[in-house]
Amino acid sequence: MQALIEQQEKESLAAISSASNDSVLREVRLLYLGKSGLISRMSEQMRAIAKEERPIVGKLLNHWRSSFTQVLEAKEKIFRDQADALLFESLDPTLPGTTRCQGSLHPLTLLIDRVVAIYRRLGFAMAEGPDIDSPWYCFDALNTPADHPARNEQDTFYLPDGRLLRTHTSTVQIRAMEQALPPLRIIVPGSAYRRDEVDATHLSQFTQMEVLCVGEGITLGDLKGTAEFFFRELLGVNTECRFRPHFFPFTEPSFEIDIRSSHLSKKWLELAGCGMVDPAVFEAVNQKRGDHAYDPEKISGFAFGFGLDRLVMMLTGIDDIRMLSENDLRFLKRFTGEY
Ligand code: PHE
Repeated sequence: MQALIEQQEKESLAAISSASNDSVLREVRLLYLGKSGLISRMSEQMRAIAKEERPIVGKLLNHWRSSFTQVLEAKEKIFRDQADALLFESLDPTLPGTTRCQGSLHPLTLLIDRVVAIYRRLGFAMAEGPDIDSPWYCFDALNTPADHPARNEQDTFYLPDGRLLRTHTSTVQIRAMEQALPPLRIIVPGSAYRRDEVDATHLSQFTQMEVLCVGEGITLGDLKGTAEFFFRELLGVNTECRFRPHFFPFTEPSFEIDIRSSHLSKKWLELAGCGMVDPAVFEAVNQKRGDHAYDPEKISGFAFGFGLDRLVMMLTGIDDIRMLSENDLRFLKRFTGEY
């Protein structure tokens, strides 16, 4: 038995050294180390031999197993290294890799996010409405009479079915009040559309942010305080706000807000329209709701709206509004973070 084991061990090591490739080597491994391989089978025969012989035979078998495994693994490593070397031959690690393009947010989206974050801190929630809406939401409910120029076909995009591309995001004031009871604090970023001649400062599609706050005891002071807080948060503490009397059908009194910020320019810039919600707007909402939830005797509110495109242009130093919608990657790549 002992002589047999020694003989087998020699043969098995010879089989390893004569294995010319990886797959032959795998067969050799299986032949000896596999579940029913030679080494296991010989171990099983231990039971048949005399007790005194067992420790000696056991030792020999162990020696065989470990020397075989050692030599086998060494040979396996040689084959593995050869395969790796072959792979590297056909591969030039000095070649530049393929760069993965990482997208970034559009400068308008970045500004919307900043504006929303400021209003969130004041307890405003985001609301949305459709870009295609009815004249009722866009005009009638907002106390805008049939002869108002905004309703003119020259100024507004009408669809054949009578609906239109909303001319402002104020439509969502109505939709929000229709759905929820006061008090209400919402902000509405979104697109608005007008039949403007497209040039460096005008697009027929632009972006607005609507702000609406409705509840008991809301005053013009709240409007002023909120607007001033907002513009200072956005443009710096030295930003000044000026409220100029103006007219909007859906607010009374109404104002335009001019701001002056060393961050932007030395001049006053007209940036937003605002006012106290006109009682006629509350009445239109009540009529649609079929209740008296927005009782103008008890409830008041302020609204304001401003264009985001011009603000982005000023903050980024772009002098042509069309760049915001052309999706030129060279332009977009300049704004990969905050500006
Ligand atoms: N919707 C007005 C516009 O587009 C802005 C505005 C909003 C004015 C809310 C007053 C109140 O010009």
